[in-house]
Amino acid sequence: MNCSYYIPMLNLVGRGVVREVGREAKILHGHRAFIVASAGETGEGQAKQVAEIIGSSGLAFSLYCEAVPNPTVAVVERGLARYKEAGCDMIIAVGGGSAIDTAKGIGILASNGGCIRDYEGTNKTHRAMPPFIAISTTAGTGSEVTQFAVITDERDHSKFTIADWHMTPNVSVNDPEMMMSMPAPLTAATGMDALTHAVEAYVSKSASPITDAKAYKAVELVSRSLHTAVKEGGNIEAREDMCYASFLAGTAFNNAGLGLVHAMAHPLGGMYNLPHGLCNAILLPHVVKFNADSASKKYAELAVAAGCGKSWHSERENCESFIRFIVRLSRNINITPRLESAGAKAGDLEKLSEEAMEESIGATNPRPYSAAQVLKIYRAAF
Ligand SMILES: [Fe+2]
Repeated sequence: MNCSYYIPMLNLVGRGVVREVGREAKILHGHRAFIVASAGETGEGQAKQVAEIIGSSGLAFSLYCEAVPNPTVAVVERGLARYKEAGCDMIIAVGGGSAIDTAKGIGILASNGGCIRDYEGTNKTHRAMPPFIAISTTAGTGSEVTQFAVITDERDHSKFTIADWHMTPNVSVNDPEMMMSMPAPLTAATGMDALTHAVEAYVSKSASPITDAKAYKAVELVSRSLHTAVKEGGNIEAREDMCYASFLAGTAFNNAGLGLVHAMAHPLGGMYNLPHGLCNAILLPHVVKFNADSASKKYAELAVAAGCGKSWHSERENCESFIRFIVRLSRNINITPRLESAGAKAGDLEKLSEEAMEESIGATNPRPYSAAQVLKIYRAAF
């Protein structure tokens, strides 16, 4: 088996590591950093915190606190204009997937020109991004370690994926101290996103021994600490576990790819502007059930990682235990099990199925699927 393994050059994980960002920015030879964060009080606070660190290292900076959930083409284009006006030469993203994906979009346009949709697909750029540091403030997205960005085209509410090695950050940062104030619903949704990354990477057709090791450990950490991180937001040990889980799951799927859960979650997020992790959490047990016969050995192994599998049980029994574990975890962290209560409409399920079939992210799913099967899964989750 051959394997290519992509990962940021430097990965900082642990309590207080965000304070090392100034030093790393200088090593990357940045002079004026473009700090990208989410719109709103929290995003602005995080951007100012990073600006202080950057400023105290003697570097100049400009703030762009306009990233939105399910980041749009317009937000990326506006960011690019601001990046150029300010004369920046490096990018620092601070936030969840929205801020980091926005920064990736700005970065590839800054180096390559054109429109963001030109880069839909795989490795369409010709030049590397400006030096790029990604600081995650939610434990789940994995965007801080990946070569992927998902952008929403607001004209037709469609989402498109850019996969490009040039978008891999130079430095990733996962600091639990940046996550202590994350509200419970966001902790829950992003944590379930991390779990989904690990599960899909583990059963992926492109999995390797390297990605298996990362994904397995991520499932162990999520099962140990997500519930606590949601219920006791101030528990630094649980937050730190989720930092590692998110990082490990991110590096796993960056190289092994994802599967049908994400292929089905993206159209849902695009159509209703729903949190990505919430869509994944609802769909995950249904997709595991659908895939079970094609990957029962691997799901059974994950049941052991999650602490619910027994060595004397059959693969099938452990696989079913794993499905029950996912359902129980979601329920315990107050995630609705139904698409309808999340805001989906029954009349849209056929259109969603067609859109899910267009998602290339499902290509590594262990079981092939048809539009009719996808529709059946949406209905089961409805
Ligand atoms: Fe995801």
